[in-house]
Amino acid sequence: MKGQHAEGRRPVVLGISGSERAGGNTDLALAHAGALVELRDAEFRTVALRDHRISPCSPCGDCNYRADPCALPDAMPQIVEEMKRADGIIYATPVHGFGLAHLMQIFIERAGVGFLRFERPLANKVGGIIVTGRRYSEASVHNQLVDNLLLNRMILVGSGFPALLRSTSREPALTDTEGLEAVERMVHRMLDMILLLRRHEDVTGEAVLPLDDRNERVVRERTH
Ligand SMILES: Cc1cc2nc3c(=O)[nH]c(=O)nc-3n(C[C@H](O)[C@H](O)[C@H](O)COP(=O)(O)O)c2cc1C
Repeated sequence: MKGQHAEGRRPVVLGISGSERAGGNTDLALAHAGALVELRDAEFRTVALRDHRISPCSPCGDCNYRADPCALPDAMPQIVEEMKRADGIIYATPVHGFGLAHLMQIFIERAGVGFLRFERPLANKVGGIIVTGRRYSEASVHNQLVDNLLLNRMILVGSGFPALLRSTSREPALTDTEGLEAVERMVHRMLDMILLLRRHEDVTGEAVLPLDDRNERVVRERTH
């Protein structure tokens, strides 16, 4: 029956919130996505970046020469482990100053340059994006996150219009019905894809796309 999974085989979707405002529009949107995930008998986990100590990139500047992950002592390794455990990851962020809100910006800089590029552990996970804003530059923030997911070799599933949620009210509210429909379609298509990938792996014993787990830093050092 659709939506029921064998014990220990429930798909896991991780929502990462880049909003400083607990219970704000971004959290509401992510909670809505999470409720839909759970309706499909999958597990929904969240990481609110504001609850973790994440250092901005420091002036060490040795990222291009290191062959191992960033050594700044903060919550990044723990969050990266949480991402590795998930089958699907949704980045949810507000627009601030026509760009990514700073928590998400700092996070994707540290995650990508400091950790993920060494082994690309998110390869073949299914990605999703939710952007909340008033109406200015949500599309460019969305595009930035698309580039980031693709950089990490994740799989993006077309589901119609991007999940951009607009709100102009002072109090947090999910009033953008068109945006909510886009979130719903995105979540269902993500889960459909996660299950398809699983079926493929169960039948063939192989990942649907080959996992290239070269440490890009080491390869680069050898070839340049
Ligand atoms: C500092 C700041 C800057 C913002 N800049 C923009 C912007 O450039 N474009 C936009 O559409 N909305 C902007 N907004 C509105 C937020 O993106 C919007 O209210 C969002 O839904 C807030 O999410 P939250 O409730 O999770 O904080 C800004 C809000 C703040 C607080």
